[in-house]
Amino acid sequence: MLPLTRLLTIALGLTSVSSIPTNNCRCTSDSACWPSDSDFQTLASKVSQPLIHPIPPATPCYNSAAGNCTEVQAGWYNGVWRSDQSGAAEHTNWETYTFPNGTIQGCYLNTSLGFSCQQGSVPVIGVDARTPSDIQEAVKFAGSHNLRLVIKNTGHDYLGRSSGRDSFLIWTHHMKNITFHDSFSPTGATDSVKYQNVFTFGAGVQWFEAYEAAREHSVLLVGGLSARGSVGAAGGWLAGGGHSALAPNYGLGVDNVLEITIVTADGNHVIANPYQNQDLFWALRGGGGGTWGVVTSVTYKTHPSTPFAAALITVNSTNADSTQNLLEEIIRLTPSLVEQGYGGYGGGNTEQFQFFVLSPNVTINQTQATFLPLFELAASQPGFSVQNETVQFQDFWEFYNLLFNSTDGQVGVPSEISSWLLPKDVIQTDKPEDLAGELLKISGFGYYLVTGGQVSRADPSSTGLNPAWRNSLVYTTIGTGWQDGANETAIQTARQGLIQDMKILESIAPDSGAYLNEASRYEFDWKKSFFGSHYEELLAIKQKYDPNSLFLVYEGIGSDGWDADLVCRV
Ligand SMILES: Cc1cc2nc3c(=O)[nH]c(=O)nc-3n(C[C@H](O)[C@H](O)[C@H](O)COP(=O)(O)OP(=O)(O)OC[C@H]3O[C@@H](n4cnc5c(N)ncnc54)[C@H](O)[C@@H]3O)c2cc1C
Ligand SMILES: *[C@@H]1O[C@H](CO)[C@@H](O)[C@H](O)[C@H]1NC(C)=O
Ligand SMILES: *[C@@H]1O[C@H](CO)[C@@H](O)[C@H](O)[C@H]1NC(C)=O
Ligand SMILES: *[C@@H]1O[C@H](CO)[C@@H](O)[C@H](O)[C@H]1NC(C)=O
Ligand SMILES: *[C@@H]1O[C@H](CO)[C@@H](O)[C@H](O)[C@H]1NC(C)=O
Ligand SMILES: *[C@@H]1O[C@H](CO)[C@@H](O)[C@H](O)[C@H]1NC(C)=O
Ligand SMILES: *[C@@H]1O[C@H](CO)[C@@H](O)[C@H](O)[C@H]1NC(C)=O
Ligand SMILES: *[C@@H]1O[C@H](CO)[C@@H](O)[C@H](O)[C@H]1NC(C)=O
Ligand SMILES: *[C@@H]1O[C@H](CO)[C@@H](O)[C@H](O)[C@H]1NC(C)=O
Ligand SMILES: *[C@@H]1O[C@H](CO)[C@@H](O)[C@H](O)[C@H]1NC(C)=O
Ligand SMILES: *[C@@H]1O[C@H](CO)[C@@H](O)[C@H](O)[C@H]1NC(C)=O
Repeated sequence: MLPLTRLLTIALGLTSVSSIPTNNCRCTSDSACWPSDSDFQTLASKVSQPLIHPIPPATPCYNSAAGNCTEVQAGWYNGVWRSDQSGAAEHTNWETYTFPNGTIQGCYLNTSLGFSCQQGSVPVIGVDARTPSDIQEAVKFAGSHNLRLVIKNTGHDYLGRSSGRDSFLIWTHHMKNITFHDSFSPTGATDSVKYQNVFTFGAGVQWFEAYEAAREHSVLLVGGLSARGSVGAAGGWLAGGGHSALAPNYGLGVDNVLEITIVTADGNHVIANPYQNQDLFWALRGGGGGTWGVVTSVTYKTHPSTPFAAALITVNSTNADSTQNLLEEIIRLTPSLVEQGYGGYGGGNTEQFQFFVLSPNVTINQTQATFLPLFELAASQPGFSVQNETVQFQDFWEFYNLLFNSTDGQVGVPSEISSWLLPKDVIQTDKPEDLAGELLKISGFGYYLVTGGQVSRADPSSTGLNPAWRNSLVYTTIGTGWQDGANETAIQTARQGLIQDMKILESIAPDSGAYLNEASRYEFDWKKSFFGSHYEELLAIKQKYDPNSLFLVYEGIGSDGWDADLVCRV
């Protein structure tokens, strides 16, 4: 069912085709139309901080005047350190730029590789935003000068959507305001609409900060889970959907947001919620980051703090049949686990496999009873070395702090990944052996319980999110990587492996979808995979709020029709 406002949006979108600008390219720092120094000085006089000139994070290792290389080396694999650098991406491949002839320009930590340090895809100048007004000035400046604009929060994006060669940057990282509301009424709602224990986070708040605040107020937040919690709480994570081990119980990020404030392409700072700018609020929940404007704050519901019971099994295997048997049994158990509120992360390959899940809805004794048959099955398999346990956590904080407190991990290296949602009917199969066999053809995959349960109970039309999420029970991921300094031929070889794995995964359920935040620039049909049946409606909202496509990201709504650098219309 489409609310009337959204039908109107579609009608408006279809009639606003006349506003295509005459100039077909964005201004980049190497073009004549780039703003002059005095233009930038004027901008600087209107914002709260000096303009920033981001540099690749390894620059101090080539030029000591630019900083301290020892500190760079110490921080390199730390997601929080990387997010603190205006010129860093979490994955180093998004700091580099590949020319059409295959030459790669970048600035590698390893100074012995034989490359000089160059700017690559790191934006050249930008605004270190602290307030909505800073963002309004930056958006107006980028719009009036027709700039290639990049919005960066933490730099975690897997498709390089927070990088851009020769671009102008709006950096939201220092928008760190955290406000706790004992009682919150969304703007425009009647007084009877009240939520207790609600957080408003500025655009730059990261999950580790949000979780600390939640702990102080003894409440539970649904958020991203990664080493040190460096993912942003209000940026791309939310805009793409936002998954969590807690999602089967409490919904995705998009199911927990009450209100969003945003600076739109016209420079206005507006509130989007169920009572005003409903169409924008709908699009901001699943329509992807960097597309609708610059979000300045996000208001989330919380849940009562609760203990969790968890189960963990990890195996090393020299016997592929044994691994197949274990995965088959996990697939068989999955529907009932999700119904009991378990969420978490599994994955591996024939040589090793892990599965970790937790639930607030069960006791530790129930968890032991539920998992004993799986543990016993593992113990009986030839060629297995098994570790298994069940654990009780007194609250989310204890779990998070135990599992996600390593300083380094997942970042500081090149990486490309992809994902696919597996629908209920694929998991509730009478032939789990076939599904297990398909998955184990992949060199390494993630088997995540971050969907189903509460995620499936939400109305698919309630948010802009791809409806494939609502019908899924398991979320799978794949990935590839290479060494910094690898040449384009070597990268293509790694990439071909990823693309082969994508084909295997997608053929399991061709009509399902991928998670736009954990995907690649090589998605076969990104409009369908990322947005499904919501694509046309999202496009109409895009045309209404950003008719000139100031806000462009790779494989984002409105990005087709632009070249590979998102600089010129093709
Ligand atoms: C180590 C790691 C762990 C992860 N763990 C999880 C997880 O547990 N769950 C999950 O769902 N995903 C996870 N992800 C994926 C994550 O959701 C995406 O990388 C997401 O894009 C990160 O958003 P960000 O704002 O932190 O990053 P950024 O790269 O800064 O931004 C991502 C996108 O959002 C846009 N954007 C950022 N801020 C704003 C803003 N204020 N207004 C408008 N647009 C904005 C950017 O332009 C870009 O397009 C993980 C990624 C990594 C690298
Ligand atoms: C660089 O940082 C390290 C570690 O913080 C410190 O010991 C060293 O003195 C610094 N070097 C310079 C030149 O400042
Ligand atoms: C590739 O193109 C870049 C940019 O035009 C140029 O600087 C470089 O020399 C070229 N490399 C080769 C091997 O032709
Ligand atoms: C840096 O690169 C050189 C040359 O490829 C290599 O020999 C060396 O092991 C690398 N150093 C590190 C720390 O990776
Ligand atoms: C931060 O939040 C407080 C209210 O808690 C508000 O008064 C202030 O203006 C906010 N600051 C910014 C920069 O948004
Ligand atoms: C877990 O229990 C809570 C409260 O009883 C309930 O709201 C929630 O839906 C349950 N979760 C699942 C996945 O059934
Ligand atoms: C849980 O199991 C332990 C040991 O198996 C037992 O002693 C205890 O009574 C059980 N608790 C409940 C609430 O059943
Ligand atoms: C599996 O092998 C790894 C690497 O050798 C080791 O660290 C881990 O403890 C092993 N796990 C099990 C369950 O044997
Ligand atoms: C591991 O699994 C075995 C069954 O194979 C079970 O007896 C044992 O209690 C489990 N260990 C833990 C720590 O749960
Ligand atoms: C992570 O948590 C464990 C267990 O609580 C603790 O021993 C360790 O010191 C923590 N590590 C960090 C880096 O905080
Ligand atoms: C690219 O790198 C690979 C692996 O390091 C090497 O074998 C190959 O010769 C390189 N190709 C070119 C064109 O430099």
